[in-house]
Amino acid sequence: MAKYKIAVMPGDGTGPEVIAEAVKVLKVASDKYGFELDMTEYDLGGRRYLKTGETLSDETLDELRGYDAILLGAIGHVDIAPGILEKGVLLKARFGLDQYINLRPVRLYPGVESPLVGKGPDEIDYVVIRENTGGIYTGVGGTTMKGTANEVAVQTTVYSRFQVERCLRYAFEYARKNGKKARGKGEHNTLALIGKTNVLTEVYGLWDRAFNEIGDADYPDVKREYYHVDAACIYMVQCPEIFDVLVTGNIFGDIITDLGAITQGGLGIAAGGNINPEGVSMFEPIGGTAPSFTGLNQINPLAAICSGAMMLESLGETEAANKIEDSVRWATANKLKSMAANEMGYGTKEVGDMIAQKVSE
Ligand code: IPM
Ligand code: MN
Repeated sequence: MAKYKIAVMPGDGTGPEVIAEAVKVLKVASDKYGFELDMTEYDLGGRRYLKTGETLSDETLDELRGYDAILLGAIGHVDIAPGILEKGVLLKARFGLDQYINLRPVRLYPGVESPLVGKGPDEIDYVVIRENTGGIYTGVGGTTMKGTANEVAVQTTVYSRFQVERCLRYAFEYARKNGKKARGKGEHNTLALIGKTNVLTEVYGLWDRAFNEIGDADYPDVKREYYHVDAACIYMVQCPEIFDVLVTGNIFGDIITDLGAITQGGLGIAAGGNINPEGVSMFEPIGGTAPSFTGLNQINPLAAICSGAMMLESLGETEAANKIEDSVRWATANKLKSMAANEMGYGTKEVGDMIAQKVSE
């Protein structure tokens, strides 16, 4: 029987509540499909930091390298200055484990109302591949004369050909395997680069050249498109059906995936994975800690449950992953009134129970 070592980091806010439901569903799936999940919980995040002053230590990071995958709830705390936990835990894990891909499907599930009038599951069905360890997140820069009228602050976008190329190659492979043609939904598998070649001529010039060189040389079967990021925002709202697989740098990817999430019904249903294709990947709902809903049994656990499904998929447990996905589709089509916290028509635990039950059938 296959056995996977999973590190579980519930984190802060509503993280523990949604992760409890994801774990519930994963256990049912592993029983049913005959594999074992050996889960170890890590107490990381705001609560821990307030108690001990520790974020993610180098020792813990090293330990995490020994797992097959990580399941993360949410990191962030209202009483801690912005940046400390984000950089000290979340980004430290992403960078330290070299999770250079952030995979974020934008998929409208059946029965979910999108704020985009007239757009249904057929129209809102694409994937954003966000470069996840470089760009403006690298932390190159600094501040001088802080607090004076002459203060200068610099934070630079940094990309190497190596970083760009490995991300693009992942994206081309992904488009070839999972694009719309591969899924019987269109004539082409299409990869669109989202950039800003009209202003960020250096950085997106590099992305654009690499995109076309790699595409011409190794992926002639994948159709290529290019959109400026600002225009892409218009199309994500106006005609999301034109998109298949998108690839972009770190900060653009951060921003457009929040836009994508709201078009798919909100953060309650938006799942994601921080992927190191050669190493340890970390799966997390993209929603954050939702402090105002903490402890109320009102938060939507479906994003965490879908992140769990993405984790199983990455481990090669495709049948179990598909079953969870199908069960979520069944629930959104037939049961939940909304994806929003406190508007689902059910509590957090009831939604978890419902999916677990469906998976077991
Ligand atoms: C996300 C989040 C993080 C990011 C923050 C919390 C550092 O917004 O996962 O999208 O910017 O990557
Ligand atoms: Mn974000």
